[in-house]
Amino acid sequence: MAQLPPDVIEDDCLPEYRHLFSPDLLRDKVAFITGGGSGIGFRITEIFMRHGCHTVIASRSLPRVTAAAQKLTAATGQRCLPLSMDVRNPAAVTTAVDQALKEFGKIDILVNSAAGNFLCPASALSFNAFKTVLDIDTLGTFNVSRVVYEKCFRDNGGVIVNITATLGTRGQVLQVHAGSAKAAVDAMTRHLAVEWGPQNIRVNSLAPGPIGGTEGIRRLAGPLANMQLKAHASPLQRLGNKTEVAHCALFLASPLASFVTGTMLVVDGGSWLTFANDIGYLERLSAKL
Ligand code: HXC
Ligand code: NAP
Repeated sequence: MAQLPPDVIEDDCLPEYRHLFSPDLLRDKVAFITGGGSGIGFRITEIFMRHGCHTVIASRSLPRVTAAAQKLTAATGQRCLPLSMDVRNPAAVTTAVDQALKEFGKIDILVNSAAGNFLCPASALSFNAFKTVLDIDTLGTFNVSRVVYEKCFRDNGGVIVNITATLGTRGQVLQVHAGSAKAAVDAMTRHLAVEWGPQNIRVNSLAPGPIGGTEGIRRLAGPLANMQLKAHASPLQRLGNKTEVAHCALFLASPLASFVTGTMLVVDGGSWLTFANDIGYLERLSAKL
């Protein structure tokens, strides 16, 4: 059994790290990472920086990304530019991408990790609640991809990694908003891979399963007291960790995946294949929410 890569629950850098890939894998590349100030996006940023990459991390909260950038730079010695930006606002996205290009002169990699989610039955979901999650996850991914394409990737090529989910593959209850939003992003991945491939732009989705130490799992598993038990029902019988997701993002973003585009890499220990999707249980749970 392979040893698990280390992780810490908090949005802190790993106290120690042993390279599995070459430390130069992303040397002097620049990655623009939405949602890079927390959770999975934070760890992806750290792992990229530990492989020689400079980064831009962008989300709504400037204090959050500023604090994250300080930790990331201290731990890795690479540069990290924190920017405040709402992915729903194309003008703000344009300003942020301009700032990134002014700072670094290029962007090689875009990771769309910003997202919003909560548990809610479809019948109780307000029209605005559904729209809000679609706006952040789906339109947000398009907005940032479109601006980075226009300002950089069209002429120079690049790599896009969209962080999605498998919620929509079997129709998870309480998740019609997030499942629909992420399924649309997976479709966008394929469309953009086809349309932008000739310009040397690779576009792939990475779909994590339940990952420990994240806001996502706190929101979804908090009320699911026996989520850990359900995780044990998955083939690898555990939650994933953020470093495991980050290593897969590193693979997709790097030249190791130079012939990989338009696909979805599921990083979930096989749980989407076996997760009970116990409608009765989840409906009883939703009655309590
Ligand atoms: C029902 C809710 C709700 C909830 C908000 N709304 N929270 N409805 N249950 N828990 C409704 C509001 O009432 C409102 O509708 C609408 O959604 C917009 O809410 P706002 O608070 O105004 O939105 P906003 O400030 O833009 O915040 C977006 C957010 C928020 C998604 C609601 O939670 C957020 O900022 N989340 C970012 C962090 C996050 O979610 N991280 C987890 C990602 S994990 P009305 O009708 O009242 O106006 C993830 C995991 C996927 O994506 C898969 C895991 C396996
Ligand atoms: P998280 O820490 O809450 O990450 C979401 C990030 O998105 C936050 O940094 C947030 O920062 C940013 N964000 C939210 N709305 C935004 C907006 N409108 N504009 C710009 N940035 C915005 O949660 P996470 O669990 O690590 O999730 C990271 C990614 O993994 C998401 O795409 C999620 O769907 C996916 N995922 C997670 C899991 C899991 O188990 N955790 C499973 C499957 C998929 P601000 O609040 O500062 O804006």
